[in-house]
Amino acid sequence: MNNFIFENATKVYFGQGCVQEYLTCLVQDASTVLLAYGGGSIRRNGIYDQVAGLLRQAGKTVVDFAGIPSNPTYDQVLAGAKLARETGADWILGVGGGSVMDCAKAIALAARYPGDVWEDFWARPGVIDFDSLPLGVIVTVAGTGSECNGGAVITHPGKKIKTGRDYPQLNPRFALMDPTYTYSVPQAQMISGGFDTLSHLMEIYFSRPDEDNVSDDLNEALMVSVIRNLRAAVANPQDYTARSNLMWAATMAENRVVKLGKQGDFQCHNMEHQLGAYTDCNHGQGLAVLHPVYYRHIYQDGLPKFLRFAQKVWGLPRDGRSDEALALAGIEALAGFIRDLGLPTTLRQLGVEREQLKEIADSCGISPGSYRRMTHQEILELFQECYESPL
Ligand code: NZQ
Ligand code: ZN
Repeated sequence: MNNFIFENATKVYFGQGCVQEYLTCLVQDASTVLLAYGGGSIRRNGIYDQVAGLLRQAGKTVVDFAGIPSNPTYDQVLAGAKLARETGADWILGVGGGSVMDCAKAIALAARYPGDVWEDFWARPGVIDFDSLPLGVIVTVAGTGSECNGGAVITHPGKKIKTGRDYPQLNPRFALMDPTYTYSVPQAQMISGGFDTLSHLMEIYFSRPDEDNVSDDLNEALMVSVIRNLRAAVANPQDYTARSNLMWAATMAENRVVKLGKQGDFQCHNMEHQLGAYTDCNHGQGLAVLHPVYYRHIYQDGLPKFLRFAQKVWGLPRDGRSDEALALAGIEALAGFIRDLGLPTTLRQLGVEREQLKEIADSCGISPGSYRRMTHQEILELFQECYESPL
């Protein structure tokens, strides 16, 4: 294993009823809470009324910051920070998915920073040597794992860059996770979130070091769990066990535990983020299109691990196949899973224009941790390959 330091400052309260039971005491020292949320799902499913009601009953002033879209932009960060300052908010509560949680983290930072947070913390890594606004989150859709890390992925539309940084100082102080809150998530979004979780696990697993290590063993168990529980949740969206497992697996994939001692790849995330910057496409869906084609491209550079993936994660027998054939069969099992879930399988389906492919490819970050270091030309070839031919 590589050397590491581990800390996770977020306290998790998990399970049905946790918001009712714990929210009020968790924001005891707040007087004005900036309630950050998305496009309105929490208004329709009753979560807003419950959360705002609890805060108001406890004597808090609630300031709404509504309308955070998927793929939150820097403009929203600035607007939220301005509102927090103007209203004297002393806490932020993000209620939603990755987009809301990420935006809330960036607002927490920007509200206390006089300079340009994009330039100083996202365009390049910065040093947080001041206290950001205290932040708590209530998760309403599982997938990104943003609830238990300091990661915030923000889009700068003017610069056409979507990028994330993980600052441990931005870990939410608490995360309330009630799996029943996710019942109202549209099925396509539930599947997208589940695939995002699987993608995080694969991005970590397919990287060095490959010798025996706890992170890879945990990772395999999590991948198997995500695949099983996503199938169960598709069959019955109100399966509490499946929704609980998906919610916790999403956290486990991104709370740094399975990253310990691993280099991590995240080349597919780099590519998907730029597809998002140009087209505003759905994160999990973009990843689904890219993963099989990327893995077919690099598997020979990490053959033993792809072989292990086929056997341990997909349970494929040897059946007289060569290492290479079995490794490829594992990638085909992944592609079949994507098709079974009804996820998109081409960039065209995501709304990408063919003429954009080169510019997007050239804008992608190159991961130093992948089995094979990509070039922008290879990324363009991958994009062309999955532009309109299904996986
Ligand atoms: O906006 P509303 O109306 O709330 O609707 C949302 C949105 O349309 C809806 N939704 C959420 N909870 C719901 C619900 N609908 C009904 N009932 C509920 N209970 O779901 C839609 C998607 O929400 P969003 O937050 O955009 O999805 P997700 O959680 O997938 O987050 C995606 C963002 O997170 C970033 C992505 O790049 C993307 O910007 N990521 C953040 C990461 C991190 N911080 O660690 C890691 C990830 O790799 C990812 O990059
Ligand atoms: Zn992701």
